[in-house]
Amino acid sequence: MPTPHIRAEKDQIAPAVIMPGDPKRAERIAHLLMDDAELVTDVRGMLGFTGTVDGKPLTVMGSGMGMPSATLYVTELYDHYDVQRIIRVGTCGGMSHDVKVGDVIVGLGAHTDSNMNQQRLPGLNFAALASFNLAAAAVAAADDSMTVHVGPILSRDHFYLEGASSIELLSKYGVLGVEMEAAGIYGAAAEFGRQALTVLTVSDHLLDHSSDMSAEDRETKFQGALKLAVAAALS
Ligand code: HPA
Repeated sequence: MPTPHIRAEKDQIAPAVIMPGDPKRAERIAHLLMDDAELVTDVRGMLGFTGTVDGKPLTVMGSGMGMPSATLYVTELYDHYDVQRIIRVGTCGGMSHDVKVGDVIVGLGAHTDSNMNQQRLPGLNFAALASFNLAAAAVAAADDSMTVHVGPILSRDHFYLEGASSIELLSKYGVLGVEMEAAGIYGAAAEFGRQALTVLTVSDHLLDHSSDMSAEDRETKFQGALKLAVAAALS
């Protein structure tokens, strides 16, 4: 039986899901990774594919942009489809001088200016954390061709509006990059006692806009992050 936003039958979704923001990127990743990828959902154009990698079942599905969209899909995947682990793959803006465009970030935890997780545990500043075992598996899959950073990221509600904290201050606190989904996904993983991880390619830099990636580069340069995400998904 499907959910309001996913039309797949229960057995058409694998226990491990790789989740880019863009549904068309989900389609490209699915066909890149799996010869047997089959479209299993397309409600509102949010494409999801299931197949196998090295004999292991895997689903690749888009999350949309922002925490409300991503949280909605991961909640249905954990709750209804019994998904055990979700690995977000995406891009982020670099926030630290140590991080360069093209580098990979494994998001161990996600600060946020969203109040989605405040609503889960009123009165608490929720710690939105990745699953250690997934992070360890992702980092172990890194090779010399990529620079991988492991640490905190920031999930923001606004893409364009400047946040309350300066980039320099966030950078001083060790924040590596900014994106828009991880804290929501980590909150849902905690709700259902499941696993989640975020692996990001730095596509632009908030402290140095001269090095930003083109839209084409964003598509081709995410291979390193994808390799780590697949290693975590199938670990
Ligand atoms: N902000 C939020 N999300 C992003 C960014 C950014 O600068 N770059 C890539 N994804």
